[in-house]
Amino acid sequence: MRVTLKVLRYNPEADRAPHWESYQLEAEPTDRVLDLLHNVKWDTDGTLTFRRSCGHGICGSCAMMINGVNRLACKTLVQNLDTDTITVEPIRGLPVEKDLVVDMAPFFQAFKAVKPYLINDDPPPERERLQSPEERAVFDEGTKCILCAACTTSCPVFWVNGTYIGPSAIVNAHRFIFDSRDKGNGERFKALSGGGGIWRCRTAYNCTEACPRDIPVTELIEEVKRAIMVNYV
Ligand code: SF4
Ligand code: F3S
Repeated sequence: MRVTLKVLRYNPEADRAPHWESYQLEAEPTDRVLDLLHNVKWDTDGTLTFRRSCGHGICGSCAMMINGVNRLACKTLVQNLDTDTITVEPIRGLPVEKDLVVDMAPFFQAFKAVKPYLINDDPPPERERLQSPEERAVFDEGTKCILCAACTTSCPVFWVNGTYIGPSAIVNAHRFIFDSRDKGNGERFKALSGGGGIWRCRTAYNCTEACPRDIPVTELIEEVKRAIMVNYV
């Protein structure tokens, strides 16, 4: 089939503003949007810039806005877009470095702020810190996060207020807040309760719809809000 790939391009060293460029391509219905981008880069214009790594939905590098929705380019098949015109833009709310590549530093700053690691200063037990399967299941959803930023950059609160910590950081806080072995919630609750913290969330649900790992993001955010109210406020 013949498809038109429209890419919002921007080179801050040469362009005054982002602009659309169109490419006519031959594609198989089972091609991924990532394949189309490769075709352009390898055969038509080597300056087209985007991130990718694993190409199989695990590394989270190729999140972009495809036909107006945040998705992974490596998991989006042409046949599932129901159109022969495909638009690709960078994810929103983060500074564009070039074409589809954004500066992820603010995103990872928020991730680091919630201390996404096990905190427990108790002396280690003789063998290991035990946890039952039921206790492990409580935070299972958050462990699936691949840090792609599709959720945070689809959130309208984040678009208008870049200081909002964002759904991805909250999901990764949830992962440890509900871990029965962890004792660092005081520090996390503090990070989440500040001006750009969890209370900025307006339950818009865009984050849940955008997540390529089907994590119930908004549900996890509500669980963290309840935990803060019960234990901290
Ligand atoms: Fe990506 Fe989902 Fe993790 Fe958000 S919660 S960063 S959308 S995997
Ligand atoms: Fe934003 Fe998700 Fe809350 S889209 S407003 S973080 S429910």
